[in-house]
Amino acid sequence: MTEAPWFRDAVVYQIYPRSFQDSNGDGIGDVRGIIDRLDYLHTLGIDVLWLSPIYTSPQDDNGYDIADYQDIDPTFGTLADVDELIAQAHARGIRIVMDLVVNHTSDEHPWFVESRSSTDNPKRDWYWWRSPGESADGSPTAPNNWESFFSGPAWELDEVSGEYYLHLFSRKQPDLNWENPEVREAVYSMMRWWLDRGVDGFRMDVINMISKVTSLPDGEPIPGSPGLGDGTPHFLNGPRIHEFLQEMHASVFEGRAEKLLTVGEMPGVTVDDAVLYTDPARHEVDMVFQFEHVGLDHGDHKWDRRTLDLRELKTSLGRWQEGLAETGWNSLYWNNHDQPRAVSRFGSDAPEHRVASAKLLGTVLHLHRGTPYVYQGEELGMTNVPFASSEDFLDIESVNYYRMAVESGSDAASVLDNLRIGSRDNARSPMQWDSTGHGGFTTGTPWFRANPNYVEINAEAEVADDDSVFHHYRRVIELRHTEPAVGHGDFQMLAADHPTLYAFTRSHEGVELLVVANFSGDELALDVLDDLDGWAGSTLLLGNVGEPSSVTAPLRAWEARVLRR
Ligand code: NOJ
Repeated sequence: MTEAPWFRDAVVYQIYPRSFQDSNGDGIGDVRGIIDRLDYLHTLGIDVLWLSPIYTSPQDDNGYDIADYQDIDPTFGTLADVDELIAQAHARGIRIVMDLVVNHTSDEHPWFVESRSSTDNPKRDWYWWRSPGESADGSPTAPNNWESFFSGPAWELDEVSGEYYLHLFSRKQPDLNWENPEVREAVYSMMRWWLDRGVDGFRMDVINMISKVTSLPDGEPIPGSPGLGDGTPHFLNGPRIHEFLQEMHASVFEGRAEKLLTVGEMPGVTVDDAVLYTDPARHEVDMVFQFEHVGLDHGDHKWDRRTLDLRELKTSLGRWQEGLAETGWNSLYWNNHDQPRAVSRFGSDAPEHRVASAKLLGTVLHLHRGTPYVYQGEELGMTNVPFASSEDFLDIESVNYYRMAVESGSDAASVLDNLRIGSRDNARSPMQWDSTGHGGFTTGTPWFRANPNYVEINAEAEVADDDSVFHHYRRVIELRHTEPAVGHGDFQMLAADHPTLYAFTRSHEGVELLVVANFSGDELALDVLDDLDGWAGSTLLLGNVGEPSSVTAPLRAWEARVLRR
């Protein structure tokens, strides 16, 4: 039998550097700030840090628009700072994983500047340039109807050459043409350079979009979106994606002795796709980062809201557990920099339930099979931001959506409500370190206002309180390191049809764990479980609301327990 990969026992912590810790008073987080907080992260017990992009960038999409892959934006620091971060993290046994954003570059990247300079520039073909169509009145039209993820068409007319370029995200994020072998080699060589510098792997941004159907066909028209269509069938998991990832693996990772990590962020990936992407024998990526469970409270469009039904959540997460049980591996997360705060979304941020429900969420997630991710502040139970008006939103996706929805006649108040619930900006308010000004994030003026609840919810208070969300996360993380069933056990969902009970077992080499969690503010009896009596003599490994009267007693509001037998 081959040895199980190291990352099954690991927990990843995601840092959004802009909002983590400012060290120089300019109001924006930076690499030195991260170095200053490594001891905090070490106390939490995480194994890997994933940094959202810190490369040179005009910051149109907060760094996901990169103008130089091999340098650091002065806002965040220098390459020397990163070298120190790597060294200091390694000294604490923490690996550093960089964000790899190679579906697109910034339009200010020299590759694009050259590509744009003339139709016969050698780098012209590094991006997706196409001649316009012609509308009835003779004006140019986009080469196809694809909608950009950030609202509006995915094509921008370049007035100078009269051609359009493709941008699946903002117009300042032109898509690289992976059909061109020079593009691929340039990316691989940059990746090797980072590994040689000492980083431990990559989280690959929208990596399942790099292969497009080269004829770029129109997508199905999107209802209510005049003239625009859904291009995703033509670029998600496209025709050459597996070939590209295997080539990347062979060119970048093969033969390296270090324990590296590759995570494919893959919107729209199915369980069957994920098996292919993460089957170790295929040499593509170690794990996918998929979105099915965080789409369950969306309607037809990301901004249409629906109430989350716990049964659907269990069905989705349970299907992923089953589908990857034999082959492949998944990331586990509630939160990242693109999602509203977990406790406000899947738990309850009401004062009487916030702490218990934040702990419950950590327990349930981390006890699944897969590699768990903690997004900065999740370990404190940080909540959504109380946005007062549309002016408070800074994220390009949110700002574009608001403008376009209101321009096309939607009611401004309901658009604002959608933003409050669904905007990525909920995750981007500064990390809450202590109760001093701006939550201790900066001594200057923060680029994004701190959530006023930093006065109560902050790291300093939680580290000092053994009963805090922080210490609960620390215990859950420790459990993965000490109890092999957490990283390696088989998963079995129980009471799948129950509307508020989330229950499952993990079994490994004669040890069985039972996880039970009450996703409600009401007491919940456990007698719906077939084998409840069989657990009566088991050991309580972890609870979140104080000692229960017995391990099988009814669950109190938002109570979660992990039992072992
Ligand atoms: C996914 C990233 O997580 C998101 O923040 C970004 O806007 C898009 N990819 C484009 O890079």
